[in-house]
Amino acid sequence: MTHYMFMLAFALAFLGSLVDAAIVERTFHVGNMTITKLCQTRVITAVNQQMPGPTLEVSEGDKVIIHVLNHSPYNMTIHWHGVFQKLSGWADGPNMITQCPIQPGNKYTYKFNIIGQEGTLWWHAHVSFHRATVYGVLIILPREGPHTYPFPKPHHEVPILLGEWWNANVVDLADEAYVKGGAPNKSDVFTINGKPGDFYNCSEKDMYKLKVEYGKKYMFRIINAALNSELFFKVAGHNFTVMAVDASYTNPYKTDVIVIAPGQTVDALMAADAAPDKYYMAALRYEASGGVSFDNTTTRGIVEYYNTSPTSQPVMPTMPAYKDTLTANRFYTNLTGLLRPGKPTVPLTVNHRMFVTFGFGRVKCESDQLLCNQTTGALAASMNNVSFQFPSSASLLAAHYKNLKGIYMRGFPDKPPVFFDFTNESMNTDPALTPLVHTLKGTKVTKVKYNSTVEMVLQNTAIVVAENHPLHLHGFNFYVLAQGLGNYNKSEAVEKYNLVDPQMRNTIAVPGGGWAVIRFKANNPGVWIMHCHLDAHLQFGLATAFEVENGPTPDTILPPPPPDYPKC
Ligand code: C2O
Repeated sequence: MTHYMFMLAFALAFLGSLVDAAIVERTFHVGNMTITKLCQTRVITAVNQQMPGPTLEVSEGDKVIIHVLNHSPYNMTIHWHGVFQKLSGWADGPNMITQCPIQPGNKYTYKFNIIGQEGTLWWHAHVSFHRATVYGVLIILPREGPHTYPFPKPHHEVPILLGEWWNANVVDLADEAYVKGGAPNKSDVFTINGKPGDFYNCSEKDMYKLKVEYGKKYMFRIINAALNSELFFKVAGHNFTVMAVDASYTNPYKTDVIVIAPGQTVDALMAADAAPDKYYMAALRYEASGGVSFDNTTTRGIVEYYNTSPTSQPVMPTMPAYKDTLTANRFYTNLTGLLRPGKPTVPLTVNHRMFVTFGFGRVKCESDQLLCNQTTGALAASMNNVSFQFPSSASLLAAHYKNLKGIYMRGFPDKPPVFFDFTNESMNTDPALTPLVHTLKGTKVTKVKYNSTVEMVLQNTAIVVAENHPLHLHGFNFYVLAQGLGNYNKSEAVEKYNLVDPQMRNTIAVPGGGWAVIRFKANNPGVWIMHCHLDAHLQFGLATAFEVENGPTPDTILPPPPPDYPKC
């Protein structure tokens, strides 16, 4: 402990007796780490020589201060996924959206308050594909402590971080994909708390193990930190009760399988009530689209009861087929939000309506995309036919704050240029039926008034290929009013809107060839990116941003950037 930290701890202990809120201060050293996985030794980028990185545990109301020191050879940013960042957009983290990257040898201190939210979130790098190795858990406890959960406090809480691993360097992976104008190579393994498990070569010992006691209740804080893969997760012989998703409480939902998209979290209770033995926990990819090649391997760990015979063989759960859309949709659509006294409910008046198509398309090859096919063009992704282009000389937030011209444009379209049979896959064989295949790059934002309610119909298209896309919104949670397969049909959909207790999320897995309707209150001034949480698709441009104006009072105005705000 440094002298300074000692003083701080002393001051905090003193303050702790006077106020609820504490200061949580940590240092993240981002740097090279030598690691051996699958019998291959290589150097990755990691925080504090840990992969996954350190777990942050805070309480609602706390002030968080994280000093990020970049000793790595790469540009770095850290995003606190799901944290509202009320009036602290400068600390949100997405590269070139709210900050320029922390360059090698430099540092930046992220400062933000945790207000009005509790549950499981996480943090991760938000530049290139670095979040494959730069990520960790962020737990927000209720201000009054775990005994104030809206359910009996479980005996134990266990973070389950699901990850995706490449033997290759992930920056090379991203760069190669860009140069080819195509998708990156598929991953080599999935991991549970950083460990692949015994289904993979040379990995029997590198397996996550959880010892459990018969009769106790465990709460799994499950996070999908995989780059490009939605996942099914099961534990043999056990059921779950989902209590929260994306740090928002749900009505208890019983299920034997968890379905989770990149960016999402699920808090699920598991009673250790099976015959005391060994059971595998396992995760594999959920992939609705037949047209893509993907990592179809299985990661697994072990749940082992105390006093189990050392020779007993673990039981394997029956996993859903990778294409089991029925199971995925059942899980995603059956969740509802828990109503709590004094907490916000769905805003009923909408100020800003958008109909947003999104999916793949084609775009002209750039001159540095050396291996790009000139005839077909590069693979691109877009929202309302705008393929999002990251700015290069200033972040969107800095440009917004300083009124810089030429960094971005307002007027992101609030509907697609044409309406057609969005989810009809046969259009891909008849180019005449594919009006939006060619997309243009642009940095366009939607400007909204402070505190206005935004409703978005999110319509997935089948252009090129219909894939699932987990859309993540920074700065806000949103209500999921309805979701379904096929094309959005207003009169049918509106009848299905849940305006009473819809699930609240920060990431919605819109089904391939399907749609969802979300609503949120833009009560946080700043610039907030919304993007597909498959990193491969973000690189293709599946993103847009909201520019939320300042409010009328001093406490609704975005403060100036901090003095150490990174320069481009
Ligand atoms: Cu979890 Cu924009 O990210």
